[in-house]
Amino acid sequence: MIRVLVPRERQPGETRVAATPETVKRLRGRGCSVWLERQAGLRSGYADEAYAEAGAELFHGEGPEAAERWAEADVVLAVQTPGAPGAEAAAAGLEALRPEALLLGLLNPHGDHSLIERLERQRLSAVALELLPRISRAQAMDVLSSQANIAGYKAVLLAAAALDRFFPMLMTAAGTVQPARVVVLGAGVAGLQAVATARRLGALVKVSDVRPAAREQVESLGARFIEPPRLEESPGEVGGYAREAGAVFLEAQRQLLAPHLAEADVVITTAQVPGRPAPLLITREMLGLLRPGAVVVDLAVGQGGNCAGSRSDATVDVDGVTVIGAGNLPASLPQHASALYARNLAALLEVLIQEGELRLDPEDPLLDPCLLSHAGVCRRDDLRPARSGQEVAA
Ligand code: NAI
Repeated sequence: MIRVLVPRERQPGETRVAATPETVKRLRGRGCSVWLERQAGLRSGYADEAYAEAGAELFHGEGPEAAERWAEADVVLAVQTPGAPGAEAAAAGLEALRPEALLLGLLNPHGDHSLIERLERQRLSAVALELLPRISRAQAMDVLSSQANIAGYKAVLLAAAALDRFFPMLMTAAGTVQPARVVVLGAGVAGLQAVATARRLGALVKVSDVRPAAREQVESLGARFIEPPRLEESPGEVGGYAREAGAVFLEAQRQLLAPHLAEADVVITTAQVPGRPAPLLITREMLGLLRPGAVVVDLAVGQGGNCAGSRSDATVDVDGVTVIGAGNLPASLPQHASALYARNLAALLEVLIQEGELRLDPEDPLLDPCLLSHAGVCRRDDLRPARSGQEVAA
């Protein structure tokens, strides 16, 4: 029996849970026992009783019972890294796990500078879901996509709620109102969902991205693509991700964006480059181009932000423009965010279970990029803060 532990998430603002009654049942069917901390699903709308009915064993998160479960678990399914650095004698969290236990979660490998050291010290195996490869085999496990989809949707709803006008064109007895003009920067998963949501609400949408492949996707959603600057040093893409743009390119891109921003009611920014600071696409000066009452939602705020002045989980007013720094939007829709996340994790764990045993093959192309450590041996030296010099803010 593989013993799977699911903790209650304790990080501030985290409302999600890494298993739902549906995935508990699924994992039980694959020969796992599931130990779930009491009230783990409370904030995402999943009651202890529903987990118990699905076959989970519930345990108290504190005291000897917790210590025993953590010390015996084979796998921990988490949303964020459990426990705190330096918690030597903790009853729960990484420091309470036995050597060779496996942790699956969004471990923030670029931003958490103590992660590798903690994994080594406890001799753990760990998969950072942020680093799963975008190969077809991994699609059902792609948490970045399932969560970014939610972020893109919610960003538009936040913007609509903060905006001083309608999104759709309306013909009323009091006359016609024109549709809102929305600009989306970055057409990845979050950006495309923002486009689709804004279009459903009736807005006119324009989109900027540096990957040429984005044009077709944007246009298929009924939005207009803003051509990137045509320069020799265009960032292009590697493995489907954008490369980091150089200063000259970014300056040219900002100049191209300026007239579109001047007409916009809403700007949703989602531009990111994995492991690098987000490109600054709207400078403080450019914010002045937006009309008072316009709204910017910055989804890249956790990576330094696409918009000057945006602050994580805060709304600031810059000369009449509302700038919303949207840090962890998936946590604001915790029931669906957890349902999708839990399915992603169950799909991954199922692949790792062979003939009733947990098998971690570091050579497997699925695991190679995201298995940070294997029984305490670090496999991603490049993520050590002292050597990489590439950390971005958590
Ligand atoms: P992301 O969150 O890393 O970045 C968001 C978007 O920002 C990207 O489209 C990127 O090109 C864009 N960007 C970067 N620098 C920019 C700049 N200076 N100006 C404007 N836009 C900029 O992206 P995400 O959502 O993770 O998607 C990355 C790629 O992965 C996409 O090609 C997507 O289609 C692909 N993908 C593939 C999957 C699969 O094969 N299973 C699943 C999900 C996504």
